[in-house]
Amino acid sequence: MEALNWLLNRTPDAAACKRTAVDLIPRDVPAKARRFHNQIPGFRVSPLQSLGRLASMLGLGGIWVKDESQRCELSSFKVLGGSYAIYQLLKRQLVLEEQTSFADLISPEIRKTLGTITFATATDGNHGRGVAWAANKLGHRSVVYVPRATTGARIDAIRQNGAEVHVIDGTYDDAVAQVDEDARRNGWVVVSDTAWEGYEDIPRWVMQGYTTIFAETQEQLAGVGMVRPSHVLIQAGVGSLAAAAVAFYRGLLGDASPKFVIVEPTTAACLFESVRIGDGKAYKFEGPLDTIMAGLSCGRPNPLAWQVLRDCADVFVACPDYVAARGMRVYAVPLRGDPFIVSGESGAVTLGVLTFIMQRPELAPLRDLLGIGPQAQVLLVNSEGNTDPDYFRQVVWEGAHTVPPGIVIREASS
Ligand SMILES: Cc1ncc(COP(=O)(O)O)c(C=O)c1O
Repeated sequence: MEALNWLLNRTPDAAACKRTAVDLIPRDVPAKARRFHNQIPGFRVSPLQSLGRLASMLGLGGIWVKDESQRCELSSFKVLGGSYAIYQLLKRQLVLEEQTSFADLISPEIRKTLGTITFATATDGNHGRGVAWAANKLGHRSVVYVPRATTGARIDAIRQNGAEVHVIDGTYDDAVAQVDEDARRNGWVVVSDTAWEGYEDIPRWVMQGYTTIFAETQEQLAGVGMVRPSHVLIQAGVGSLAAAAVAFYRGLLGDASPKFVIVEPTTAACLFESVRIGDGKAYKFEGPLDTIMAGLSCGRPNPLAWQVLRDCADVFVACPDYVAARGMRVYAVPLRGDPFIVSGESGAVTLGVLTFIMQRPELAPLRDLLGIGPQAQVLLVNSEGNTDPDYFRQVVWEGAHTVPPGIVIREASS
């Protein structure tokens, strides 16, 4: 039976971590990103929800869910990265002041200087929707490439934000390569959430934009008298979100940073595999990347994110689709007194993993290693809401991807 695998990072390096984390997220950046996001018309802080009853049931001190299903009207955190990268790009192109606002960028004078720019990106759904939304708000065009497996609902959501959508006969990684090639020919500006050689500034800005999630979280935790979470379980596709989380907390708290568990689908576990191989390099995950966690269906780590995760993260988990499906159902059927949270496949997987970690006897060694128990305050990011309604109903109503009996959970050998 397919297993939920976990792997202790045996090569974290405190000195290297300090460097790579601050390189990615310099200390003044989260405040700047937050200031930018706050002045976007219609922007709202996403809620931090407490699943106190579930925490007691699982033997934890608290479970805190940063609910990105309620981020703007886009049901995912992704818009934070795309919008901040476009803003930085335009500011650099026009040599504008640090405090240039969103309103300045849509002023008639600046619009006249810029003309109409076409922003292009590859996506498995949410990032493309965010880029399309930001381009649209700023009065520019967008072209979005999606892999073959992208569902109609995800494509429609991107189109509704004004983008032209191209379906590529391949995976997310193929779409990334294709959009880069076509953009060169057509003079489009690529806003990718992953980096490659010679293309790093924009994905770094994307990751910096994600820090708004954690800056808001810290403020919300302070509001209930908490200094920091003790553990963060965070989902990864190319690893940009996870690296932003790790680098943010490292920059803020140094060695008092929470413990980080990085979660991927078994069938697209590129970071897990790279840690397992253990020579410090990032490896491509071969295969069709089939998973219900569309947002995490990526075969190639973002090299910038990889450096941070390799140097700083604690544990890597690769899990089958049924773990994400369980997470969706646990969110959708809360214990009495806990809030109902709408969570899609990629959003819910970390709650699924947390329930396994706390409930399966085979995972006692992992619990010990993480020091996770009654004192723990665990932070999860519900990174998407119901972004694919047909699939959401299949899982939550019809019980698709039930947890099979007799599963085995083990530490992977490195
Ligand atoms: C809902 C959702 N969660 C998490 C992720 C993972 O982000 P990253 O690719 O930066 O690891 C994505 C990426 O598309 C996503 O759409």
